[in-house]
Amino acid sequence: MKIQNYIRFYKNKKILITGNTGFVGTYLSLSLKLMNSKILGYSLKKKDQKYISNTLDYKKKIRTIFDDIKNIDKHETSIKKFNPEILIHLASQPLVSESYIYTKKTFETNILGTVKLFELVKKLKNLKNILIFTSDKVYKNINQNILNENSELGGEDPYSASKSSQDIISNSYKSSFFRNNKNIFIVRAGNIIGGGDWEKSRLIPDLFISNNKKKNITLRNPNAIRPWQHILDLTDAILKLIAIKGKKISDRSIIYNIGPKNKKAYKVKNLIQNFINKSKFIKISYKFKKIKFREKKFLKISSNLIMKDINWKPKLNLNEAIKITSDWYSNFYTKKTKAFNFTENQIKNFFKY
Ligand SMILES: NC(=O)c1ccc[n+]([C@@H]2O[C@H](COP(=O)([O-])OP(=O)(O)OC[C@H]3O[C@@H](n4cnc5c(N)ncnc54)[C@H](O)[C@@H]3O)[C@@H](O)[C@H]2O)c1
Repeated sequence: MKIQNYIRFYKNKKILITGNTGFVGTYLSLSLKLMNSKILGYSLKKKDQKYISNTLDYKKKIRTIFDDIKNIDKHETSIKKFNPEILIHLASQPLVSESYIYTKKTFETNILGTVKLFELVKKLKNLKNILIFTSDKVYKNINQNILNENSELGGEDPYSASKSSQDIISNSYKSSFFRNNKNIFIVRAGNIIGGGDWEKSRLIPDLFISNNKKKNITLRNPNAIRPWQHILDLTDAILKLIAIKGKKISDRSIIYNIGPKNKKAYKVKNLIQNFINKSKFIKISYKFKKIKFREKKFLKISSNLIMKDINWKPKLNLNEAIKITSDWYSNFYTKKTKAFNFTENQIKNFFKY
């Protein structure tokens, strides 16, 4: 979609974004701010100072309430005063590995947090469009099929189970309370790459952090196949989806997978090798290590439905996604341009401002 159309829809819209201090939330917040939306964030502070949300530039642009999602009812007055028209819910414990260690916390944040949020949403009369970001891991995925929106739900590890629950609960609120007055979009996407992600147990941050320490990266699941996609394509899909489908209220949840362009299955080790081959900045190699916890070997989703319904398609192929991700981290470590400005420039270039 042309940027002018986005600006027409998003200009002056009041948008509440939970999880706005994280990787995905930062891109959505900055992109919407560039489209002249009014943003209120609700998140915990990221402890790692490298996050863009910890820069002064970000804090100046994006107002955030810092608290646990489970306490969102305590902020009813300020949120009512802000009077959001759109809600994007990202606040979650987002890691499979952490969910094996902090299982109760994962369920509390991802499930109870979502319920607390929806209870507040019932009181927000002007809120018409709600987007819940679950995951491609919501599916049961027992066979090596390509998963579509009708595939059976049933994540097995605690993170995946919490996201399946988030998905089902969101659908329940739509059918039970918001049938005629609010849209609920449920998007299932996975394995997003791009600059500004610093989660240590994720592949790409791990690659660049290891490179900075001049240590080879250890791959725990080298043959796992994942639908890699760039954060800017995902941002574009979410913005286009709300702008197109958010104009009238649908009587059921609007559910879409969002995945990459390449039909080719891509293994973890091939992705890393590709980064190493293409980026002069990366000087390390990789080694393998067996993991103690289970992760699915094969995960491939079909995005045909969203492509057909709203005529969205990813703009970046895998090589382009790798290039702009490498550029981001290489700029971060060489400190040529401020990370905040570099990110905004990548957003502007992508949306052709
Ligand atoms: N990055 C991916 O590849 C990916 C893939 C599929 C789904 N997702 C989903 O996207 C969303 C954002 O993930 P991300 O990659 O930006 O992760 P992230 O860790 O960078 O950000 C998570 C955000 O949630 C907030 N948060 C975590 N626990 C909270 C709590 N108890 N109370 C309030 N806020 C809390 C954090 O402060 C942060 O703002 C999550 O829902 C995640 O499950 C991400």
